[in-house]
Amino acid sequence: MEIFLKKWFCSLVLLNILSLCYCLDNGLALSPPMGWLAWQRFRCNTDCENDPKHCISERLFMEMADLMVSEGYAKAGYNLISLDDCWLDKKRGPDGRLRPDPLRFPSGIRALSNYIHSRGLRFGIYEDYGNYTCAGYPGILNHMELDAQTFADWQVDYVKLDGCYSYPSQMDKGYPEFGYFLNRTERPMIYSCSWPFYQLINKMEPDYKTISNICHLWRNFEDIQDSWQSVTSIIDYYGDNQDTLIPLAGPGHWNDPDMLIIGNFGLSYEQSRAQMCMWAIMASPLLMSVDLRTIRPEFKAILQNSEIIAVNQDPLGVQGRRIYKKQGVEIWTKPVLPMNGKKFSWAVVVLNRRVDGTPSQVTAPLRDLGLDSEEGYHVRELNDHKDIGFLSKDQAIRVDVNPSGVVMLKCTIQRVPPFNP
Ligand SMILES: *[C@@H]1O[C@H](CO)[C@@H](O)[C@H](O)[C@H]1NC(C)=O
Ligand SMILES: *[C@@H]1O[C@H](CO)[C@@H](O)[C@H](O)[C@H]1NC(C)=O
Repeated sequence: MEIFLKKWFCSLVLLNILSLCYCLDNGLALSPPMGWLAWQRFRCNTDCENDPKHCISERLFMEMADLMVSEGYAKAGYNLISLDDCWLDKKRGPDGRLRPDPLRFPSGIRALSNYIHSRGLRFGIYEDYGNYTCAGYPGILNHMELDAQTFADWQVDYVKLDGCYSYPSQMDKGYPEFGYFLNRTERPMIYSCSWPFYQLINKMEPDYKTISNICHLWRNFEDIQDSWQSVTSIIDYYGDNQDTLIPLAGPGHWNDPDMLIIGNFGLSYEQSRAQMCMWAIMASPLLMSVDLRTIRPEFKAILQNSEIIAVNQDPLGVQGRRIYKKQGVEIWTKPVLPMNGKKFSWAVVVLNRRVDGTPSQVTAPLRDLGLDSEEGYHVRELNDHKDIGFLSKDQAIRVDVNPSGVVMLKCTIQRVPPFNP
């Protein structure tokens, strides 16, 4: 341990002198990661004896991997299956290495990783920068180099590193250190950090510049819960802090407002559409956490809406902005491709948080939304795949938005002035 700590400090000094960053700038996550995570839906259910179908076990992840492919999620872009907490044995092995719970993961993690790769998917793992994971399993503190190597040996593609049982003041050192060890394995891995969240709840100001250099995505707000109230609290956080958060996002580095809860118990159909459209316009990672064996077809269709996913995955990678918020109605916009000269096309979400039982009619002149191209825009609704038609910058969009629902538009900039008789 002494030795590699020393090595690390030497390299760190050297790197500082050369003023290079030892970040995971490895060309991954150029668009927001998409995949499936266990936590929100399956939590820390370890009772495989009484609940074999829902417990955290290799069987669960293998079944989800199969369904990701057979039900079309992989084709829609969801390419990651990731463990979350509670996969570990309570103790490290005699060699000091992490090992999975032997009853729930009898084939071992390398075999699970192989299985997921054989389905054409990427494999993600969960750990914690601390003495323990949040659920009390061994953390990586004091074992960082070995654990990074173990993940590489298991052919892990994505590491979510939580922050329970650690000091937030040490994270500015610890998260980069683990990123350095991940990098040194030479296996490209996406690095998902909880670093700013734990600092924020401890009233520290996160060093976002460094965080966005080291991590591909990072959490800055509470865990999502299975409710509309939780979804809207996240939307509010992102809107209220957008001047800090928007500049951080871009290809290779993303704010992570946590999982999609679409298809579970807490959201209505309209609310599910709303979460999908809001996560798309915020350029958020699209990480489902749902039982793919029992999800209803209408929720599956929301998750697989290719036009909405395309907005989320747009190569410009710009996080959307809340430009209007009044009387329960919000308008969010995000610049997307194609461009005409310096002007963008735009995705627009009109979110209705009102609870009066009829749809709200919202009228907004395009130029008030910042859509001011002389050539005008072709406007299309993305939830229902309906063309609205051509609008000039002086015309207004007029939409009916259901209570706790959304309308999502793509306004594609026109290149040739249209013929106006
Ligand atoms: C390690 O970091 C260097 C410098 O940022 C980068 O070029 C390389 O792709 C990284 N490798 C991996 C495996 O992350
Ligand atoms: C982690 O464990 C070490 C060694 O037992 C201890 O000194 C340290 O305070 C612990 N960290 C936290 C955050 O509890």
